[in-house]
Amino acid sequence: MTIQNSALWLSSRAGELTLAPAPYTPPASGQVVVRTRAVAINPLDAIGAFIYRVAFPWVRFPAIIGTDVAGEIVEVGAGVTRLAPGDRVIGYAVGLEKSRNNPAEGAFQHYVVLLEHLVSPIPDAVTFEEASVLPLTLATAAVGLYQKDQLGLPLPTIGPIDRAQTVLVWGGSTSLGSNAIQLARSSGYRVVATASPRNVDYVRSLGAEAVIDYRSVNAVDELVTAIGNSPLTGTIAIGDGSLRPSIRVASRTQGSRRVASAMVGPLISLQALRARMSGVHVSTIWGGSLKDNEVGPAIFADFLPNALATAQYRPAPVADVVGTGLEAIPGAIQKLKGGVSASKLVVTI
Ligand SMILES: NC(=O)c1ccc[n+]([C@@H]2O[C@H](COP(=O)([O-])OP(=O)(O)OC[C@H]3O[C@@H](n4cnc5c(N)ncnc54)[C@H](OP(=O)(O)O)[C@@H]3O)[C@@H](O)[C@H]2O)c1
Repeated sequence: MTIQNSALWLSSRAGELTLAPAPYTPPASGQVVVRTRAVAINPLDAIGAFIYRVAFPWVRFPAIIGTDVAGEIVEVGAGVTRLAPGDRVIGYAVGLEKSRNNPAEGAFQHYVVLLEHLVSPIPDAVTFEEASVLPLTLATAAVGLYQKDQLGLPLPTIGPIDRAQTVLVWGGSTSLGSNAIQLARSSGYRVVATASPRNVDYVRSLGAEAVIDYRSVNAVDELVTAIGNSPLTGTIAIGDGSLRPSIRVASRTQGSRRVASAMVGPLISLQALRARMSGVHVSTIWGGSLKDNEVGPAIFADFLPNALATAQYRPAPVADVVGTGLEAIPGAIQKLKGGVSASKLVVTI
């Protein structure tokens, strides 16, 4: 049987997204092919030519972008025993990563090739749209919390033991923060977070014990008070302007004095250098790095399927379904540029 595939192709760094036929690529060893049923939209999908040039200079065009896929497995490659055709899954599509650089592995197409160890089965009760919000920001949160060159925390478990230590998530209502909070809780940490006042209940519902308004002029003092005598094991800094105050909190509390920044770039590198003078170690997160180490399978294969099935973990933030079909994705990307709050734009495919 010949499978017809279609994709949204990005013609060049500054080009348009255009719907056109794409080859169907069978899975190689350690890969699966998923029939896409929903995709989520991330800030990464909305970057322009300049960011492609500085952050993804290797990308060959035309490219197929997109990272967050939910759908059904149609074919598995050699050596894949954990997953089978028909399984409902989510997966992190890493086609833009330097070592992949492969349009077959971009999310915005009907049949996408995924690395087996970045795929998780989802419970029947969770819709494709709900689950599609997870992959990229779950992966990025996991990199920041667990990779040895980041905070290096113990991996999450079902029914974690209480460690009587705190993790700070600056930007708790972001998609990334929503995952960082739930993962940190699943590793047994108490969580203190920031968010706008309108999102306090949402961030608490994910497991944060205290939620401080990041726009408050007293945010650093309030966080130091909320953290109290519990050692601050690490901070995930998310959002523009998040690193500087996160460093101040780390320097004023007892604990590891480690901050993992989701924000990257020359200014962040400069702030990281300065932070050393106050004894704070800053690392910068690259979400795709977990495809090459033990954190990827630990999260997508070992932890998430059970955590979703037992409802210890929930797909968050809530999916805001804004269209149907690959052709609806450009409009969704345009909408994301207007900003979201504690929600994620999703397109049904
Ligand atoms: N390094 C990596 O590999 C990597 C990977 C993925 C994402 N990121 C980056 O991480 C950031 C978050 O991505 P996302 O997809 O999670 O974002 P998102 O969900 O689209 O972010 C929306 C949220 O941002 C919050 N926000 C806005 N400005 C903020 C600030 N200055 N400080 C803290 N929170 C702020 C808003 O919170 P309120 O509504 O509560 O105000 C809103 O809920 C983006 O900058 C993204 O580019 C980095």
